[in-house]
Amino acid sequence: MFDFHKNHRLLTITAFLGFVVLSIGIAIIPASQMQEVKPLPGMEELSSEELKGLHVYVSENCMSCHTQQVRNIEMDQVWGERPSLASDYYFSKQRMDLWRQSPSLLGSERTGPDLTEVGKRQPGIEWHLLHLYNPRIVVKESIMPSYSWLFEEKSSAMVTKKDVVVTVPSELLKNPDHKLVAKPEALALVAYLQSLVQADLGQNLSPDFIPSTRKKKEQSSGEESLGLDGLQLYSETCAACHQPTGGGIPGAFPSLAGSKIVNDPDPNILIQIILSGYDARAEFGAMPGFADLLTDEEIAAIANHERSSWGNKAPAISAEQVSEIRKFIQNQKP
Ligand code: HEC
Ligand code: HEC
Repeated sequence: MFDFHKNHRLLTITAFLGFVVLSIGIAIIPASQMQEVKPLPGMEELSSEELKGLHVYVSENCMSCHTQQVRNIEMDQVWGERPSLASDYYFSKQRMDLWRQSPSLLGSERTGPDLTEVGKRQPGIEWHLLHLYNPRIVVKESIMPSYSWLFEEKSSAMVTKKDVVVTVPSELLKNPDHKLVAKPEALALVAYLQSLVQADLGQNLSPDFIPSTRKKKEQSSGEESLGLDGLQLYSETCAACHQPTGGGIPGAFPSLAGSKIVNDPDPNILIQIILSGYDARAEFGAMPGFADLLTDEEIAAIANHERSSWGNKAPAISAEQVSEIRKFIQNQKP
């Protein structure tokens, strides 16, 4: 009776029914469940620039190495404040046109880091542009491919006001007299990467990781706050640009070893730079401010690490000094 080899009708109908059953199970039912998903409070719709960047991300197939899903297991705690929720993907699923919907970008391969919160980890547009142009400039041992076709070289005379010039060491250019300009695709992609931050649900609403170790950490942090690890904080926050050696990258990020600002006995300017960012010299890119990302204690710990490493010898500063300058800056804002 089930002789597929002789009965072509039976073969076709069976294959078709199999197709229908699978489609219902893995496409239609999940899609209808997603209809009830609403964006989280505080989540912002992707701007048209960010949406363009999402499509560059897809066309360059970045998801072959990068996930965007914080799984509910302890080892994923480094990638986000909380496990990912269906709502987190709400805005990336906008329709591209009548026929096509943006694919979900959860990814399945984690050759590179998860990017769920990369907008928080790497806030600087300069860093992203350099990294895309050639990852080895900022992360020596990186195996990520270089996306140099998202950039073009222009002679100085051709550079217009609108162009975003990326400062790279000149020996990396085909013509050392040229300037490197980011194409619109690169800028859109970076805008998209910078938008990748988990919506904050507040401590109590956030689902916790299993098994949860976070509560334990919070309880003890009160006593340990004085022992914040400046080296670790520096590695997480500053080393991407100023490098683990503090030596910076000529033409992009200044050296902190031997820096007058870092070694100044009066830490005023150093603290201001960390809080508000810095863009004083044309030969270097711009540094983003960290006022919203770091606490006074963390800034003091980082500053003290910088003031006592790589041959630097300057007196330690306190969190109170940072707090005073933070207040001073806040009062200056209109
Ligand atoms: C062959 C695998 C591979 C591909 C493809 C790839 N990456 Fe990466 N990516 C990595 C690796 C490995 C790292 C870690 C080393 C580094 O920072 O360069 C990384 C790091 C990153 C980081 C920094 C993450 C962090 O936590 O600091 C960003 C941002 C990033 N990639 C974006 C992209 C984008 C955008 C694309 C597509 C245009 C892409 N990657 C394609 C492997 C890849
Ligand atoms: C996205 C890249 C980036 C990151 C991350 C970054 N910086 Fe910077 N930093 C720069 C750039 C670029 C300059 C130079 C700006 C200029 O002079 O125009 C700079 C300048 C400085 C200076 C002035 C040094 C001198 O002698 O001129 C200090 C101090 C400094 N950064 C400290 C820090 C600390 C501390 C952190 C971490 C909290 C940090 N930076 C993170 C890019 C970065």
